[in-house]
Amino acid sequence: MAHVLVIGASKGIGLETTKAALAAGHRVRAFARSAASMVLSDPNLECCTGDAVDSGDVAKALDGIDVVVQALGVPGRDLFSPVRLFSDATNVLVPAMEKTGVHRLIAVTGFGAGDSREAIGLLQRLPFRLVFGRAYDDKDAQEMRIRRSGLAWTLVRPGVLTSGAATGRYKVLTEPSAWRNGLISRADVAGYIVGQIDHPSHEGKAVVLVG
Ligand SMILES: NC(=O)c1ccc[n+]([C@@H]2O[C@H](COP(=O)([O-])OP(=O)(O)OC[C@H]3O[C@@H](n4cnc5c(N)ncnc54)[C@H](OP(=O)(O)O)[C@@H]3O)[C@@H](O)[C@H]2O)c1
Repeated sequence: MAHVLVIGASKGIGLETTKAALAAGHRVRAFARSAASMVLSDPNLECCTGDAVDSGDVAKALDGIDVVVQALGVPGRDLFSPVRLFSDATNVLVPAMEKTGVHRLIAVTGFGAGDSREAIGLLQRLPFRLVFGRAYDDKDAQEMRIRRSGLAWTLVRPGVLTSGAATGRYKVLTEPSAWRNGLISRADVAGYIVGQIDHPSHEGKAVVLVG
């Protein structure tokens, strides 16, 4: 069983990943600024309050960790201002992992990040850029930093997220020619991530996940 650090564990995909990893028998260190308010309770769970852009917080959180899941997000109201969270946090995390010898990183970005931008349908391109452009420019920088690292990484690019239950019926699109948008629940994204903790079949790959 692995000791997993989930960065961005208090909500969304990070919270679902925390629950799924605990259910799979892993030990989880759940990291977020509001980690102290998490209501989950499990003998294998440690809540760790910290800021992902603070190098001291991140270095402490990496102690004894086998696998890092980076599942950061910004609130919708911040999408119309410059976004730096993804690249800033990654510029802190990657060197810290390299220094401490924590090798495995599973990072959530999104469909439309990096080379999947070209797979966005023509009609969606303009609205996507208008609403998510700043965040996805920063996710591009996040992905680039991870690709340049010496880590064993997987980039997880879900389509449009829903809050539904895990179904286990989702598609993992590894080939750029197959990349497309679609709905997927955060719980299914978490199921994929925990699968990659157990069986790292997509190291060095960027995958698109849709239901
Ligand atoms: N919505 C969609 O349809 C969609 C589609 C594709 C991809 N995505 C991407 O999927 C990712 C996850 O989204 P989500 O909606 O599941 O998550 P979310 O609800 O946005 O949760 C974000 C998490 O990041 C943490 N966080 C934010 N800033 C932090 C900081 N400085 N230090 C530590 N933790 C921090 C938050 O906790 P605290 O605030 O407590 O720190 C929270 O736990 C995002 O990157 C999003 O862009 C979304």
